[in-house]
Amino acid sequence: MGMGVNTLAELNSRVDQAERLRRIVSDLKQRSDEIIRENSQKMNHSARLIAVTSGKGGVGKTSVTANLAIELSRLGNKVIIIDGDLGLANIEVMMGIVPKYSLYEMIRLDISLSEVITEGPNGVKFISGGSGIMEMASLDRQKFQRIINSLSALDRYADFILIDTGAGISQNVTNFLVAADEVILVTNPEPTSITDSYAILKFLDSQNPQCDVKVVVNMVEGLSEANEIIRRLNAAAERFLNIKVKNLGYIVEDNNVSKGIKIQSPFVLSSPRCDAAKNIKDIADRLVANKENAYGTTEGVKSFLARLYRAFSTTT
Ligand SMILES: Nc1ncnc2c1ncn2[C@@H]1O[C@H](COP(=O)(O)OP(=O)(O)OP(=O)(O)O)[C@@H](O)[C@H]1O
Ligand SMILES: [Mg+2]
Repeated sequence: MGMGVNTLAELNSRVDQAERLRRIVSDLKQRSDEIIRENSQKMNHSARLIAVTSGKGGVGKTSVTANLAIELSRLGNKVIIIDGDLGLANIEVMMGIVPKYSLYEMIRLDISLSEVITEGPNGVKFISGGSGIMEMASLDRQKFQRIINSLSALDRYADFILIDTGAGISQNVTNFLVAADEVILVTNPEPTSITDSYAILKFLDSQNPQCDVKVVVNMVEGLSEANEIIRRLNAAAERFLNIKVKNLGYIVEDNNVSKGIKIQSPFVLSSPRCDAAKNIKDIADRLVANKENAYGTTEGVKSFLARLYRAFSTTT
């Protein structure tokens, strides 16, 4: 009587109940295993952080950065552009976007990371560095750690972070070059551009020799002119430096590039079938395929920022 099992029917129902419970627990365990697995994959994910630079100004860094970002995004990658150029807000104008805040506000006014991210064309995200990047150097360790921690969220989000660095061997640019795992060096056929590119290679050779350097030759007539420039850069690098230079591709001189800039629409969108757009597609494919030197550490953004902080702190 009372608490005991009275009938066979009741007994059966209790067995059923126990069986149901066991199944629920096992389902739960399976699901939580999946969640843990998913998150540990996410935690291991880190963005490829690539500095886009050039020896000489005006050779097409910003144009390459904007169009390459869109193409990478089309290939299914999550892409963030950081404008590291302290000069004019080139990228913003080229992509036709108006960011509300920059890293400066994030650092000085405690604006959240999501508020400094602006959505650009094709899902490409944009962060304006402004003077915020220099500002980081003046932070105390604790504040810097906080900024690093919030910026590290970008690793989980992005597959590629492209930094448009500005030109030449000025401190603002070289600090990025010291910190970057990968560099895209944009050059054009002008002799001065080639010499200035060599100066960047020389700098990287002494300051960041394990860095992976990939050259894009812009504004050429075609493949043979591009190959000739790569050959000359490589010959000089092989003779005088230890650093290896990879050929990432070329972009022909094409009116659609400046047409796109005028209407504030990157040419891969406004003239998707033009020659320059085809060239950008090849460059994007090659960049995605070429990952052997992308470090892929678990702390891509974190270690980059730490190195950047060190570079700025020792030079300012
Ligand atoms: N493949 C190309 N064909 C024709 N014109 C081009 C090409 N690439 C760039 N240009 C032109 O060169 C100009 C400079 O390009 P861009 O602003 O991208 O250079 P940059 O290296 O970012 O310059 P800065 O050093 O001033 O930041 C642009 O106005 C653009 O019209
Ligand atoms: Mg530029």
